[in-house]
Amino acid sequence: MTTLPAVQAQSAVSSRTEYEAALQRLRDASRAYYGDGDSPLDDATYDQLRRSVLAWEQENPAEVSPDSPTGLVADGAAPVGDVAHTTPLLSLDNVSDAEGLTAWGLSVQRRLGHVPQGGFTVEPKLDGAAVAARYRGGRLVQVITRGVGSHGEDVSHVIGQIDGLPEQLTLPVTVEVRGEVAFTQEQFETANEVRAAHNEQVFANPRNGVAGTLRAKGRSYQLRMTFWAYGAVELDSVAYLPAGATHAETLAAVAAVGIQTTADSPAGLHVVADLASAQQRVDAIAAMRAGLPVGIDGVVVKLDDATEQAAAGVGSRFPHWAIAFKLPAVERQTVLEDVVWEVGRTGVLAPTAILAPVEIDGSTVTRATLHNPADIRRRDLHIGDAVTVFKAGDIIPRVQGPVAQLRPEGAREVPLPEVCPNCGGEINKAQERWRCAKGTACALPALIGYAAGREMLDIEGLGKTYVAALVESGYVTDIADLFTLSAEQLTTASGSAKRAAKLAEQIEAAKALPLSRVFCALGVLGTGRSMSRRIARHFGDMGSIRQADAAALRDVEGIGPEKAPVIVEQVASLAPVIDKLIAAGVSMAEPREASPAGDAGPLAGKVVVVTGKMTGPLAAYARAEMTALIERAGGRAGSSVNAKTSILVAAPSAGGKPSTKAIKAAELGVEVHTPEDFAELVADFLS
Ligand code: IVH
Repeated sequence: MTTLPAVQAQSAVSSRTEYEAALQRLRDASRAYYGDGDSPLDDATYDQLRRSVLAWEQENPAEVSPDSPTGLVADGAAPVGDVAHTTPLLSLDNVSDAEGLTAWGLSVQRRLGHVPQGGFTVEPKLDGAAVAARYRGGRLVQVITRGVGSHGEDVSHVIGQIDGLPEQLTLPVTVEVRGEVAFTQEQFETANEVRAAHNEQVFANPRNGVAGTLRAKGRSYQLRMTFWAYGAVELDSVAYLPAGATHAETLAAVAAVGIQTTADSPAGLHVVADLASAQQRVDAIAAMRAGLPVGIDGVVVKLDDATEQAAAGVGSRFPHWAIAFKLPAVERQTVLEDVVWEVGRTGVLAPTAILAPVEIDGSTVTRATLHNPADIRRRDLHIGDAVTVFKAGDIIPRVQGPVAQLRPEGAREVPLPEVCPNCGGEINKAQERWRCAKGTACALPALIGYAAGREMLDIEGLGKTYVAALVESGYVTDIADLFTLSAEQLTTASGSAKRAAKLAEQIEAAKALPLSRVFCALGVLGTGRSMSRRIARHFGDMGSIRQADAAALRDVEGIGPEKAPVIVEQVASLAPVIDKLIAAGVSMAEPREASPAGDAGPLAGKVVVVTGKMTGPLAAYARAEMTALIERAGGRAGSSVNAKTSILVAAPSAGGKPSTKAIKAAELGVEVHTPEDFAELVADFLS
C-alpha cells in the first residue's frame, strides 16, 4: 500500500461495492492494529470510515453483511484468546460534545424512569489496552487481554513488568480487577530506546506499543508498562467487594490492597451530583491533557450507584451506565516530505520534518520536531514514509515514527548534512546533537547584527566588522553581553577609543528602550517587529511574557495554535539571556498608552480578561480592539484568569459548554460578563 490510506478513506459509502470495499479496509486495519500494532489507518480516519459504514448499514439494513465488523467488540479483529472472561469485558459508547453527553443523560433517565439519584463519576479514559487481572489469595495469578470481549488471551508472562499491578497484594484477597495498561510518556521513550538498541522497529505510538508488548513472548528484553484499574468484579464467587459498593468505593477498595486505580492518576476520579458538574469535570480533565504523564483519548462518565448501574443495564457491546467523552485525536498519519536543518543560537543543528499538511486537534500541521541525527537513524526514517505525528495541546508536534508497512518504493533514508547548513563549515559530531564546529559563533554574528538594527536596539555604529570582532574575541556570546562590554573591550573590537565611546553611549541609551524593541532583538522565531509590539503591548512587561503559556499567548492577535507553543518554548530557552539583560539594567517594560479616562474610567484599576468570540455591540471587535477598549476605559487587559483578574468577558459557546477560563473564573469568584453586559459598562468608550 503506497498511497496514504487517510486519503482513500475519506469517501462516503454510497453503494454496495463501496460498502464491501470499506468493510475490507476496516478489517485490514483492525487486523494490523491487533497484530503487529501498526495500523494502516490512524484513529480519526478509522472512526470516520466506520461511521460511513454504519450510516450505510442503517439505511440498508437488509444488505448488512453478516460478518460486518461494526457489530463485534473490537470490530471482531482482536486476537481470539481461549480464556473465558468471568463476565464480558465491554467497550464504551462514545460522544464528542456537550449535546452528546446530555443525550446520553436523557437515555439513562429513560432507562431508570427517573433522574439518576446516586451521582456520576468522572475519570480519564487512558489510551492503552484493557486487561483483566486475577488475584487469588492476594497473589496475581493471571492477566488476560480483552480479546473479543467474551474471551481473551492469557498474557500472564507480563506479570512483574507492570507498575501499579503488584504481584502480591497487602491482603490475601481474591478479586478480578479490570483496567488499562499503558506506557507513560517516559516509559514509551525508554521502550523505543531499548527497541532501537535491539535493532527492532520503534513503536509508532504508545498504544500500539502496549498492545504489541502485552502479546510478545520471548523477547530478550523487558519493557515496563503501567496499570490503572477502572473496575473490579467478583472472582470464584468470593465476595471481596462490599455489596452494593458504588463505583468510587469499588476503586477505593481495590486501591486499599495496593492496586493503582484511575483515582490515583493525575486526572483523578471525581464524584459529582449531576451531569452539568460532570461536564465541567470533563472540561477540566481535557484541559489537563497536554500536561499528563500518560496519554488519554477521552474522559469516562459513569453512574456511581451500583443499583442504578444495574437498572440501566448493558447492551451487547456497551454498558448503558457509562459513556466515553472522546477528545480530539492528537495523532495522525501523514507523509514525511522533507527534512530541513536549521542552526540554533547555540550552534546546534536542529532537524525539522516537513509534512504533507494534516489536521490535528483543530490546526493544520506542516512541520514537526525531529530530535537529532542519531534519533532519525534509530527511527529509520525515510523521506516519503507515512509517519505518525503526535500533538498534545500546547506541545510542538513531533514525529513519533514511520509506519513501516506503508513505506513506498523509492523512499530514501533521510540524508544527514555533511557541512554546517548555516556557514558551510565543519560539523562537530561528538555528541548525539550535532553542532557547527564554530559553536555559538556560527549563527551569532547574524543575530547580533539584526539585534543592533535601527528598529531594534538601534546601535548605529555596530557594523558587521565590529560584530564579527566582538564574537570572534568571545566578548559577545549573546545579545545581553552587548550591555556589559567594557570600554577596553569595545576599543579592542572597534580599533578606536573614540568609536568605542560612541558605541558605549548608544548601548547605554538602548537600555531604556521599550520592551517591544528588546523582545524583537531576542530573535524569537515567528516574532518580527509588529508581532513583538503586539506581544509587548499585550503583556506589558517581560515577567508576564515569561509566565504566559501557549493559551495565554493565543490571546495576542495573530498568534495561532502552531505559533504559540513555539514562542513559549523559545522564551523559556532564552531564560539565561533574559536574566542577563535584566541584570544589566535593560528596561523590560512597555510604556502604556495614556488612558483618556485617566483613573476615573469604569475599569479603573481593573484587570479584564476576554475569551471567545465577541457578540452584540462588540461583535466586530478583534482581540487588539478589545485591548484598546479596555485601556480607554481605564483598565488593563489580562491574558489568563488568575487571582489578579477582576472581570472575565466571555461569550457563551454554541453548545453552552463553559470554557476553561469560565470554569477558572467561577472557581476564583471572578465577575463574569457577557459581551453585551460589558458593552453597556464601557458604552462611553465604544468606537
Ligand atoms: S470503563 C464496562 N473506564 O476504553 C465499562 N474504560 O473504548 C468498560 N478505558 O475497553 C470500560 N480508560 O479499555 C472504562 N476509565 C476507564 C477507561 C476505560 C480506558 C478503555 C477500556 C475500554 C475502552 C473503550
